[in-house]
Amino acid sequence: MKPDIKSDIKPNVKSDIQQFITTPLKIGNRVIPGRLILAPMAGLTHVAYRELLDGYGGCGLLFTEMCSARSVPHENRYVSPVFRWRDEELPRLVCQIFGSDPESMATAAKRVEAEGFFGVDLNFGCSVAAICKKNCGAALLKTPDLAVKMVRDVRKAVSIPLTVKFRTGWEDRPDFAMDLARRFEDAGADALIFHPRVAPDRRSRPPKWEYIREVKQAVSIPVFGNGEVFTLNDCEKMIETTGCDGVSLGRIAIAKPWVFSQWSNGCAVEMEIYRKNIKQMILLLSKHYEATPAIRKFKKMAVYNAALFRFGHSFLKKMSRADDFFEIESAVDAFFDESPELADRPNLNLFR
Ligand SMILES: Cc1cc2nc3c(=O)[nH]c(=O)nc-3n(C[C@H](O)[C@H](O)[C@H](O)COP(=O)(O)O)c2cc1C
Repeated sequence: MKPDIKSDIKPNVKSDIQQFITTPLKIGNRVIPGRLILAPMAGLTHVAYRELLDGYGGCGLLFTEMCSARSVPHENRYVSPVFRWRDEELPRLVCQIFGSDPESMATAAKRVEAEGFFGVDLNFGCSVAAICKKNCGAALLKTPDLAVKMVRDVRKAVSIPLTVKFRTGWEDRPDFAMDLARRFEDAGADALIFHPRVAPDRRSRPPKWEYIREVKQAVSIPVFGNGEVFTLNDCEKMIETTGCDGVSLGRIAIAKPWVFSQWSNGCAVEMEIYRKNIKQMILLLSKHYEATPAIRKFKKMAVYNAALFRFGHSFLKKMSRADDFFEIESAVDAFFDESPELADRPNLNLFR
């Protein structure tokens, strides 16, 4: 039976921060209901995870995993592991695309628009070697003219909201990010999602939130800050210190998909939500994927669930060794039956 996860969330009185994050925001020609949005994450923000997230509510905008612009025009949504969705989520779902040339990005964006997505997002942030080697993702920050042309050509191709997710650049220079932000706005971007880290940094050093403030001041379109927002206090601090219009949540959204709803409503959660959440993820992965990819995807996500607990390492080890979901569920029950202790902050050795 599907666990009623929402019943574990207890509403409270709304504070200023809750008022702010639940205030609608205009992005291009559309409006989102709240200012906490999901960050796109390869291998994590798949259709099964998004259905889990939808069960809790509170997320202003959903994002797919990054999809190859060259593949998108020909993808079969019922077969593709990444270009896949539930019809009911489309009005709140942005498709993130990556590519190396403006023409393929524009063609992919047209398919995204034709399918009825809320919007399209251009990935200028992924610094994984396999992506950068193909001149995609953050590699495009080395050729800003090309990145700007991509924004302009996609803008000409579609009328749905167009967002850009980018990093500081390849050097620690906020002036570069500010200049680029202005150029993206001039080229027709409707909102920016800014992750203030240099591209070679794979989340080893803290993001420089002060750069978000500079980017925000450089443009008049909405700017979402991103990077190491793990608690409502972090969220409040980012909004207060940077003036950003909203916050994009990455890893914490995988570990605790209820945070959008919890932070928006200021409610407490019962400890049981952690166990129920993992079990619900198993159900949804099994619904959307064959057994082997479902287990592979689960193990990738479980790292973030385990990172929330003291002694999360040994919990993770037990889940990783399991061969099927029965064994995984046994490991989950054994762990939670012992009333595990939550860590103050996620374990960053696991939260990579
Ligand atoms: C496993 C993983 C996969 C990611 N994949 C993408 C991606 O496909 N596209 C993208 O723009 N960013 C990607 N990111 C970066 C996140 O969107 C986000 O910028 C980063 O995790 C920092 O935010 P956080 O501290 O809230 O997690 C990924 C991050 C992780 C951990």
